[in-house]
Amino acid sequence: MLVSGDGSLLQSLLDATARAGYPAEVVGVVSDRPAVRALERAVLAGVPTSVVRPGDHHDRASWDAALTEVTAVHRPDMVVLAGFNRLVGPGFLARFGGRVLNSHPALLPAFPGLHAARDAIAHGVKVSGATLFVVDAGTDTGPIVAQVPVPVTEDDTEATLHERIKQAERVMLPDQVGRLAGSGFSIDGRKVVIG
Ligand code: GRF
Repeated sequence: MLVSGDGSLLQSLLDATARAGYPAEVVGVVSDRPAVRALERAVLAGVPTSVVRPGDHHDRASWDAALTEVTAVHRPDMVVLAGFNRLVGPGFLARFGGRVLNSHPALLPAFPGLHAARDAIAHGVKVSGATLFVVDAGTDTGPIVAQVPVPVTEDDTEATLHERIKQAERVMLPDQVGRLAGSGFSIDGRKVVIG
């Protein structure tokens, strides 16, 4: 899994993998930032961690190459971006493309980018939600695996709406990763075909 921050979505997957019969395990956690809570959660669960900081690399391509190599060490069948606040690059997608998932806090294609909850409130939508999708070269543009609607209330702030969406993400992510890992999947145009 790739993370950048609190790691509450990572925790939802770690909790799921601890349940008997869950068809996936978290083989490694890679962060672009040191000393984040997500890394602590991984360590507590006994999962190997690595940090690949953009600032330690002279350009984006070499950071992406390092991220790819460090991720490959864990030999993942799937790579899950959960609160990873960067776009992975062409090298990463060349290695893992078609099996990289990202959870996004809006009903895509509405409100892509880093400020989805803020943008949803600013636009005045009454329903937002969470989207799990297969990452492609664009920003939050890949084929959609699953979506969950979440109401937006009159008094919502960016923080309250984002937290309500994250509650939905913490259910959807382990459910869907379990389904994809258990049945397998392929991509047919914009469709994610399970099985
Ligand atoms: C989630 O809302 C995810 O969609 C977004 O960042 C949040 C991650 O939260 N990209 P956490 O770090 O897992 O708590």
